[in-house]
Amino acid sequence: GQREAATTAAAAAPASAASAPERELVVGTDAVYAPFEYQDEKGQIVGFDIDVLRATAEAAGLRVRFVNTPWEGMFNTLLQGDRDVLVSAITITDERRQTMAFSAPYFDAVQLIAVPSASKVAHFADLKTLRVGVQTGTTGDEAASRLMGKTNARLRRFESTPLALKELESGGLDAVVADNGVIAHYVANNGGTRFRAVSDPAFVPEQYGFALRPADSALRERLDAGLKAIRADGRYDAIHTRWFGP
Ligand code: ARG
Repeated sequence: GQREAATTAAAAAPASAASAPERELVVGTDAVYAPFEYQDEKGQIVGFDIDVLRATAEAAGLRVRFVNTPWEGMFNTLLQGDRDVLVSAITITDERRQTMAFSAPYFDAVQLIAVPSASKVAHFADLKTLRVGVQTGTTGDEAASRLMGKTNARLRRFESTPLALKELESGGLDAVVADNGVIAHYVANNGGTRFRAVSDPAFVPEQYGFALRPADSALRERLDAGLKAIRADGRYDAIHTRWFGP
């Protein structure tokens, strides 16, 4: 039941903690992925994912604390117990399911290509012979690796998506492949004229989930119940509208 959920999550909790309030969950997020997770002018971690997880946790009666966690190595921070939950626009994939558990999906996504406005790129396949930037270990990396070949020297991997986009701006790349929400946000915030987005039906539908340790199934059930509650009472929709418009 619920009590077990708390003790499972708190691996090191002493037996006497039975009546203690539940420990705050440590949530890892790679906060360089606007509008899903990023730091505002005050350095606060904000974004669609942050609002969704916060509302979900509240509905589930859980306390959370967000910790900025670089994408590279993020999955290990969860598996090693340094983080309890990851929310980072993480696509649920079969490969990731082999080591992590996921909540119910909370967002639909797909890959999108950012190119300079004057670019002739019309399809994903056009990138085959171009210089392409991706964030290491993302589904964008996987898609580009399949198209271009994993060891293709024109396929360049970056620690973060903003770094890849910076390289696109300085002319070092012809295209960047990343999640649609992030590319759309980037294109809209760069005057809308310097870059444009190219979609392609070749990209497979993706869904984001909260990542958890497989052993924390009681926690997963509580988060799923919380997610269900905020979808039912309109809070999820309000958050969606706040970040993506009506
Ligand atoms: N959805 C993509 C994936 O799961 C990209 C996620 C990158 N997220 C981030 N916060 N950097 O691979």
